[in-house]
Amino acid sequence: MAEKMWAGRFAAAESKIAEEFNSSIAVDARMYREDIEGSMAHAAMLGAKQIISASDSALIIKTLGEILDDLDSGKIKPDESAEDIHMYVEAELTARIGEVGKRLHTARSRNDQVAVDLRLYLRRAVGEIRALLRENVEVLTKLADAHKQTIMPGYTHLQRAQPITFGHHLMAYVMMLIRDDGRLCDAVKRMNRSPLGACALAGTTYDTDREMTAKALGFDAPMLNSLDAVSDRDHCVELASAFAVLCMHLSRLAEEILLWSSSEFDFIELSDAFTTGSSIMPQKKNSDMAELIRGKTGRVYGNLIATLTMLKGLPLAYNKDMQEDKEAIFDSVDTVKMCLSVLAPMLDSMEVHPDVMYRAAQGGFINATDLADYLTKRGMPFRAAYKTVGQIVAYAIEHHVVLDEIPLETYQGYSELFCEDLYGEIKLETCVEKRKSLGGTSAAAFAAEYAYATDFLRGQGK
Ligand code: ARG
Repeated sequence: MAEKMWAGRFAAAESKIAEEFNSSIAVDARMYREDIEGSMAHAAMLGAKQIISASDSALIIKTLGEILDDLDSGKIKPDESAEDIHMYVEAELTARIGEVGKRLHTARSRNDQVAVDLRLYLRRAVGEIRALLRENVEVLTKLADAHKQTIMPGYTHLQRAQPITFGHHLMAYVMMLIRDDGRLCDAVKRMNRSPLGACALAGTTYDTDREMTAKALGFDAPMLNSLDAVSDRDHCVELASAFAVLCMHLSRLAEEILLWSSSEFDFIELSDAFTTGSSIMPQKKNSDMAELIRGKTGRVYGNLIATLTMLKGLPLAYNKDMQEDKEAIFDSVDTVKMCLSVLAPMLDSMEVHPDVMYRAAQGGFINATDLADYLTKRGMPFRAAYKTVGQIVAYAIEHHVVLDEIPLETYQGYSELFCEDLYGEIKLETCVEKRKSLGGTSAAAFAAEYAYATDFLRGQGK
């Protein structure tokens, strides 16, 4: 850039290193479209309110459209020596139409401008992320439906606990992702207010129409306090937080995928397309993508903490510290997009091993609760039944058998309530099918969660 916008006030040029330190264009250039859209709305309002002439307004809008086309097509690139994208677009405009371009910044400041740009950018980014999130819900729901009767061990403390279906297990993640979508919508609802027209901090002496620009840019309303409008970054915090929670969910699923694909579990096998080999161990098939989803969650948490910490000591209104907001939230946006983009096809292409899951469910006495329930339903108090079954489990461990293999006479030695029908009651299929309570693991209860998920996918998420 030849001359600084503020050259009038300054005698000496800025030091090179200070200029570099101050520059944000490498980060904010990605908002060029939003910057231009915001400027077009502003120019239209200036013209409508006769703050600038109708012909100047029209020329500014037309030229901004041309600049946008040239940036989109790659014909021009944001000048890295401009301080930020706002300075760049204005300089480009002025280079094309001279004096008229210099009228655009009337009744506006970069403080409200950057606030508008970021809200518009994030609104679009959230739309893209929600579409990716939806794809993941779709893949998980489809997979869950295909496995609503696939029996596997359910775990607590990572110890085999009770039999569940693989479909029910996957559906738990669908519920998490649907809540994540709700959090994103919620944040956007509060974010979708226009700061444009708040100017530097105090509003303006011009007779502007903030309703008009808010409407043109698709905001629900203008923000009502000019100081708040230029210094509010709650939306960055809320979105960074929603992204952190979302990544926490993805990371938990990634961790399970890693466990399940290990030889020790062998419940699933990821496709070759989503695994890597080792440079030294020829037998290895590593689940790098799942590990990266888990690993990248750390930086997404970091971005939230960085933003909260950046904001906590700031007096009103705008402070340059706030320029740091974008690097953090853009990194979270990019990371979340990547994680969601890789997860859906990875899940879609993985191979499930129902036989291995079933065998695992046969070990670990995971039908012991059902055996205790058997006694309870025949009159024994639950605590007594629990103790009796504990003794039977100890017997089974000692004799290297599972509960289904113990003879009836042995059972009757522990309690006279035991009859032949106990074997049917403790079959894994029965254990799963009988858990019909709302939200339970049976195929019957699955129907409700499946309906909830398909409802969401139809765009009627509750
Ligand atoms: N690059 C700045 C940012 O991202 C734009 C706003 C600059 N405003 C100012 N008064 N220096 O925050």
